[in-house]
Amino acid sequence: MDDIYLLKFGGNAIKGKEDLDRLSKEVAGLIKDGAKIIMVHGGGPEINAEMERIGLVPKKVAGLRITDDAVLEVAERVLRDINVQVVDAMVRANIDAVGLAGYDVASFERKKPYLVKENGEDVLVDLVNVGEVTDVDLGAIEDLLMKGVTPVIYPIGQDDRGHLNVNADSMASGIAAGIRCREMIQITDVPGILLDIDDSSSLQTLLTLAQVDGLIADGTISGGMIPKVEACRRALLAGVSKVRMVNGKDKKSIVSDVMQEGVEHGTVITK
Ligand SMILES: Nc1ncnc2c1ncn2[C@@H]1O[C@H](COP(=O)(O)OP(=O)(O)OP(=O)(O)O)[C@@H](O)[C@H]1O
Ligand SMILES: [Mg+2]
Repeated sequence: MDDIYLLKFGGNAIKGKEDLDRLSKEVAGLIKDGAKIIMVHGGGPEINAEMERIGLVPKKVAGLRITDDAVLEVAERVLRDINVQVVDAMVRANIDAVGLAGYDVASFERKKPYLVKENGEDVLVDLVNVGEVTDVDLGAIEDLLMKGVTPVIYPIGQDDRGHLNVNADSMASGIAAGIRCREMIQITDVPGILLDIDDSSSLQTLLTLAQVDGLIADGTISGGMIPKVEACRRALLAGVSKVRMVNGKDKKSIVSDVMQEGVEHGTVITK
């Protein structure tokens, strides 16, 4: 289907009712202009806060959360709660939205222990209950979109051993790759990829995957930005026409201008 936009946001970019209402209004505008929208949300800061409240210590490697059984329980509970709040906000903006878990619309594979580069060093990590999308139930998603329903997906998957925590960017790219949407947009808390994260004028408006590789290798891209650019890579290689990152804090527009030709904001990554 044409004109499918997948929007992903995290809890740093969109915080609380006011932010959610603002984003929902913009999404309602896109739908009115003919777009079909799939929403995927994360909940990193909220999961951290709840973990700390009950005495667990959040641990991440290269932006991915180490998720033992106790952490999985927290992540799932918090994400479900956020999902209800997102759907409520969308409904307030007159969007016909439905909340879904990742496992309702996709299949997953548990991540095996693997080597990552952190600050230039190889580290072997076992993320435990963490998965990635392998297949998407295209029929289920297309059915909803055809009926004018907007799916709002939280990133919990499952395999035959149980539920899996999925990085929200990875969830988004798995769905985007399966559905080959027109554009995947990651709404985050920075204007895009910056050469210096303390200087917004160092924004890179257009980058190739090869340039991104260079920025990972030299440490310019780190932490939560790593799964984000890897998500862009997966989506692009699977045939998604366009991927970009925008700032959820932008007062002018978060996503309302994305259907207008020639208007660019944020960072666009190309093959
Ligand atoms: N080169 C870079 N340019 C911009 N941001 C960067 C860069 N390198 C690292 N970052 C970090 O990546 C962060 C965005 O990723 P993060 O995972 O924190 O947010 P998110 O994915 O939007 O939210 P969530 O993880 O809750 O879904 C930025 O806030 C910034 O600190
Ligand atoms: Mg993140």
